[in-house]
Amino acid sequence: MEIVVAGHLCLDIIPNWQAGSLASIKPGAMIQVQGLKFSTGGAVSNTGIALKRLGFAPRLMACTGDDHLGSIVRSILRREGVNPDRIASVEGATTSYTIVLNPPGTDRAFIHYPGTNDTFAADAVDLRGLEPGVFHLGYPPLMRELYIAEGINLEAIFRRAKQGGWITSLDMALPDPHSEAGQAPWRRILARVLPQVDFFLPSLDEILFMLDQDTFYAVQSGSRSIDAELLDGLSGELLDMGAGAVGLKLGDQGLFLRTGAGIGGRLGEKWANRQLLSPIFQVDVQGTTGAGDTTIAGFLAGVALGMDPAEVVTLANGVGACCVETLSAIEGIPSLQEVQARIQRGWRRVLPTIPHPGWRAAQDGVLYGPMDQGEW
Ligand SMILES: Nc1ncnc2c1ncn2[C@@H]1O[C@H](COP(=O)(O)OP(=O)(O)OP(=O)(O)O)[C@@H](O)[C@H]1O
Ligand SMILES: [Mg+2]
Repeated sequence: MEIVVAGHLCLDIIPNWQAGSLASIKPGAMIQVQGLKFSTGGAVSNTGIALKRLGFAPRLMACTGDDHLGSIVRSILRREGVNPDRIASVEGATTSYTIVLNPPGTDRAFIHYPGTNDTFAADAVDLRGLEPGVFHLGYPPLMRELYIAEGINLEAIFRRAKQGGWITSLDMALPDPHSEAGQAPWRRILARVLPQVDFFLPSLDEILFMLDQDTFYAVQSGSRSIDAELLDGLSGELLDMGAGAVGLKLGDQGLFLRTGAGIGGRLGEKWANRQLLSPIFQVDVQGTTGAGDTTIAGFLAGVALGMDPAEVVTLANGVGACCVETLSAIEGIPSLQEVQARIQRGWRRVLPTIPHPGWRAAQDGVLYGPMDQGEW
């Protein structure tokens, strides 16, 4: 059974900036730095490498240019033991990159080129000849061909995957509200794509932005707080649009999972009509870069291994917790056996603070909602 991770891939170029500040960038100025680090980023790199570290052999499908940056991306992936052979090299194109300006003691600034992520089209995903397993795609809001024309290309990719017998999974990203992606008709795009998606796995802020901007801005400004009722409303709407299951990533509040009746027919009845909230595992947080992508790697690993929903969200949280223990997106990800052993040893959870009246805490550390129809 294959696992494919498709979508956004870029190269981070990070000068080691030890002295001075962003204010020292002036016409004619030269800022001396201490070296340079390259690191791959995006859903394809983070979720792909995390799956590899967990013990899987994911196939990566993305685009780079046929340039030096593309070679660096491939060499980094190879060093991680991930095969980049299915990453398309687009003639004459420049690989998507981000120059990270990270002076000491202040906030970072980025110089970003979307490049080949914007031109990634439906033909970049070729599943022919692969044994259908799990297909994941990340970050359409950062990939122009996937959100223009009401997401017609995104729908085509997912339709082909689902018809080919793949279990399909989709993650989002938060677009800049003023950009073309931020202005795209996300509700209509979702209505078109979600019937082809088994697992829709955005973060809460992303889906609020797409479905309910008043609440999105109210939550951002602190005038509205989050509770289980809000999560039920959003996930119910997404299930009605056709998603098989909805996982909402909630940062330090954990991972919410709601499934519909239909997914039971695809993955077994244990998946039908579920309502779970998996609290985070207690860790010393160093940095949350890659938390979403690596949590998804844990989630997909659990699905690929045929685990129950509660085991899947637990594993997802476990992998996400390992991620936030280090500054880098992937350095903290251990083998599947190590994550499972840590969970079995009684790794402590931190209960969510959002109100969840009527939910039941169970032995396995997962919270079960009043609408949950699992056998327990
Ligand atoms: N403070 C924390 N402690 C433990 N685990 C955490 C913490 N923060 C996040 N996680 C884990 O990471 C998961 C995903 O985090 P988050 O909800 O921030 O994803 P995201 O918004 O998609 O992140 P990203 O910024 O990477 O796109 C959480 O569900 C949880 O499992
Ligand atoms: Mg995310």
